[in-house]
Amino acid sequence: MPEAPALCEHGAMKRSLCGLLPLVVYALLASFFAAPLRAGPAAIAIPDSHGAEVAEAVLREGGNAIDAAVATAFVLAVTYPEAGNLGGGGFITLHHQGNDRFLDFREAAPERASRDMYLDAQGNYIKDSSLIGHRAAGVPGTVAGLWEAHRLYGTRPWKSLLQPAIRLARDGFVPHPQLIERTREAFADYEGKTNFRDYFGPFAAGDAAQQAFRQPELAATLQRIAERGAQDFYAGRTAQLLVAEMRRGGGLISREDLRRYRAIWRAPLQQAWRGYTLVTAPPPSSGGIALVQLLGMKDVLAAEFKDAPYLSRQYVHLIAEIEKRVFADRAEYLGDPDFFKVPVNALVAPSYLRQRAQQVDRTAISSPTGVKPGLGESLQTTHFSILDAAGNAVSLTYTLNGSFGNGVVVRGAGFLLNNEMDDFSVKPGVPNLYGVVGAAANEIAPRKRMLSSMTPTILLKDGVVQGVLGTPGGSTIFTSVFQTLINLFDHGMTAGEAVAAPRFHHQLLPGTLIIVSRCCNLPEQTRSELTAMGYDVRQNSWEFGDMQVIQRTDSGTLTAASDPRGRGQARVFEVTTPAAAPEKPRSRPAAVAE
Ligand code: DON
Repeated sequence: MPEAPALCEHGAMKRSLCGLLPLVVYALLASFFAAPLRAGPAAIAIPDSHGAEVAEAVLREGGNAIDAAVATAFVLAVTYPEAGNLGGGGFITLHHQGNDRFLDFREAAPERASRDMYLDAQGNYIKDSSLIGHRAAGVPGTVAGLWEAHRLYGTRPWKSLLQPAIRLARDGFVPHPQLIERTREAFADYEGKTNFRDYFGPFAAGDAAQQAFRQPELAATLQRIAERGAQDFYAGRTAQLLVAEMRRGGGLISREDLRRYRAIWRAPLQQAWRGYTLVTAPPPSSGGIALVQLLGMKDVLAAEFKDAPYLSRQYVHLIAEIEKRVFADRAEYLGDPDFFKVPVNALVAPSYLRQRAQQVDRTAISSPTGVKPGLGESLQTTHFSILDAAGNAVSLTYTLNGSFGNGVVVRGAGFLLNNEMDDFSVKPGVPNLYGVVGAAANEIAPRKRMLSSMTPTILLKDGVVQGVLGTPGGSTIFTSVFQTLINLFDHGMTAGEAVAAPRFHHQLLPGTLIIVSRCCNLPEQTRSELTAMGYDVRQNSWEFGDMQVIQRTDSGTLTAASDPRGRGQARVFEVTTPAAAPEKPRSRPAAVAE
């Protein structure tokens, strides 16, 4: 984690002043943070009802967007176990009192990981080895990330924010039919390979929807984290249980890996776009760069889009063409910036985007080389968007990668582990779960963070939040965020219409494949014209995306929408309880005790 500059040690201040520094800083911070939150409208878009209830309650009681995000993320680890997590990682894009920040709590490769760890002696990928079981897990980042966000910006006691999650884990909740269906689908993947059924067995019963699902081990883990903070997860009892689980199953994560893990503050990617500022994910996510490239190339092709009505053949084709170019760059240039020099500025430069857009073939499908398998099935990640009454916003996406991660529950601790190692390029040219390929930029190395597509995004105008959005969906994440933004801004849709509209996706390989999500197909005529052109248009048997959007309309009204593809809830409500002054000092220990 970047350290604050040590002014005194470097002689930048006279010694006599150095002694006063902590007092001055404390006084400044105290006056800054003591300002109560304004009462007024707040908005949430959250992927399940339990999370929505808790987020709303925290905001109504005067907590800020970060407090609400911490409480919600822990609740989703209980009630949305296919993606909400303690054993995974993610990103927060944050707007707080006029400042924009980005918190990277992405998983990291364990120290014992190596470039070819998923290849056999002949150099071939060993099927499912980066997806199922202990060796698929990266070092989890979620607890460190939430702790760090709260350490700097939370105003409510950490312990109180975990209480709803503890209650739901201990007393149980009645599972939503979508969760039951997803859990049942997962049994087949893990059967005989992991301990998934030992923990999620109740979902196999016919009456699962009538019974409260209790997770006592998870409740105890949350209780320890509530009392001891991130320290418990990375260096305490939970760390012990996680390392014991690794030993049982031949996994790689060690005590040292956990002890060393840090959430990292990075500069968000900020880009001017049509009078707004987009604040979005920098590497190790590809999402922000991709989103900026997609929006930029679409604007270069404004004249072509003018002649291409919404969802017509030409509209879908042009978007597929620009998406193809984005995925080509992603495969070549993007990886963890701490390990690989990512040419961010060059990739989003207007001159580059102009040149790339001009290469778009207006009438035929540009050819990529080779044809690779398409997207996998049953994907889950989760995203939520929160805007508090003071105008602070959290856009948070976090994940176990595949639905229920690697299928391994940490025995005694009750939480699932991720299979995020699959987001590395396990071998150049070999597609991952999402069918995307990579090269050296994203090869495995100890401590490196795997390339993501997550795109938690905030839209500002004159420093005021106008939009907060994001979604799960693996490699479809940034193409979905892009299409939702143009639904709002080019097609004048309401937030509800924008999230519910059909979405389609093209990702370079296979060169002709366009996928369309299950709920909402493209018009019949568009599909047959695309097919005649040479595209293979396939409606998925599964949904991609679960978009959570908050928007401030031009008239200044707040609206929020949760994707009908998921089980989420969006609400705008009036907060009448201004926040009290913070009750804790700001100098609590960083994510992990040293
Ligand atoms: O970081 C990424 O891009 C993936 N691990 C996200 C996975 C995902 O969105 C699965 N969801 N539907």
